[in-house]
Amino acid sequence: MIVCVCRRISDREIVRHARAGLGFDEIQFELGVATQCGQCEGCARDVVAQCSNSCPTANIKLATHTQEGSPWNILQHSPQA
Ligand code: FES
Repeated sequence: MIVCVCRRISDREIVRHARAGLGFDEIQFELGVATQCGQCEGCARDVVAQCSNSCPTANIKLATHTQEGSPWNILQHSPQA
């Protein structure tokens, strides 16, 4: 999904940078997200926040969507009931 229409930056691109350890400001500098009209800033910040270490379950959800063919299987790592 395109998050920043002005710079044509997708959520996947933002996730990839956030998972590499970059914060919003660094991602903004690297990609130029939210540097023109600014309408995408809230959504872009939300995507970065979902990838932060403070919310590891968000990382798991995003990883299953962004890494097709990954050997990582969510069912193998689910907590046992
Ligand atoms: S939509 Fe991102 S700066 Fe305009």
